[in-house]
Amino acid sequence: MLVLAVESSCDECSVAVLRDGLLLAESTETQTIHRQYGGVVPELAGRTHLELMDRMASETIARANQTPDSLDVIAATVGPGLVGSLLVGAMYAQGLALAVGKPFVGIHHVEAHLWAAEMTAGELPLPFLVLLASGGHTLLVRVAGLREYHVLGTTLDDALGEAYDKIGKLAGFDFPAGAAVDRVAAKGDPHAFELARPMDDGSCNFSFSGLKTAFLYRTRALPPDVVAARTPDLLASFQEAALESVMQKVRRAVKSTQIRALVAAGGVAANSQLRAKLKAAAEEAEIEYIVPPPRYCMDNAAMIAYLAWKLSQREIPASISHPVRPRWPLSDLVEGDKAP
Ligand code: KG4
Ligand code: ZN
Repeated sequence: MLVLAVESSCDECSVAVLRDGLLLAESTETQTIHRQYGGVVPELAGRTHLELMDRMASETIARANQTPDSLDVIAATVGPGLVGSLLVGAMYAQGLALAVGKPFVGIHHVEAHLWAAEMTAGELPLPFLVLLASGGHTLLVRVAGLREYHVLGTTLDDALGEAYDKIGKLAGFDFPAGAAVDRVAAKGDPHAFELARPMDDGSCNFSFSGLKTAFLYRTRALPPDVVAARTPDLLASFQEAALESVMQKVRRAVKSTQIRALVAAGGVAANSQLRAKLKAAAEEAEIEYIVPPPRYCMDNAAMIAYLAWKLSQREIPASISHPVRPRWPLSDLVEGDKAP
């Protein structure tokens, strides 16, 4: 089955063609126009997707040595995400599906992240626990099967990637700043500054906005030349506090659920410290640790096409349209009797 998918929920414009779950061609462009604004500007994101989409789709189909007529299924992310950006991808894909007379499959972005690791690791051992951490999402989800999801925790304020981006902005880095914070923090002392830790309410939910404020006040209290000289220590201390809190929740979730693997997803899964800590936690719990390569952690159309293919295995896709849903809780997908 030949599947083409587009992903345009935020600032990555991506198109992929997969045959039976295997990647034939993919192109992903991260929009750089947002750098100067310190965050994604929704209106600009939608317009940029519009400029990129048709060229990228045509090029990706050609690189896969296919023609639009040879496609069996066309898929797109239909939520959650920025409404203007979602509309560009979803309308493009639905137009293409209509033109070639093939079914369209609307995909939930977060659900696609949950299964992305399968593209490189093969069938995942069920049940597994996913930590999804990106610029827009921070979730802990227990996956017992397709459409059998239990959200154990989510963020009460900022997403983890968003916290990295905001701290990075305070340190003078361009958006998105997570990778730069990771790199510079590696040269610092994680115990140099004591920053107020996020409060632990005993749940698996996350909160990062208090830590961000603590970082802001700590840096403001220091003379500018000291801040400049000690940026690595400041960033390492932020990272230690943020990741320690994340790991507390991950360990709690691992303990309270019978799972066979710990899976990382989302752009922050590229973080060197987080990867090391997750690996150690999995070893301690004697379960598998699975993390996709960075290009499948970040937003990409391959994971959208992969999930469309996986869903098509059990149900012949028949729809030609699907409304976009900028807000779309993962729990809406859980099938009646599979709810925990
Ligand atoms: O999944 P993604 O590409 O897009 C969405 O936000 O959906 O994730 C991007 C996020 C940004 O916040 C970026 O700063 C963060 O992932 N990120 C990192 C690292 N690489 C990317 N955060 C911490 N350490 C990294 N190495
Ligand atoms: Zn994402």
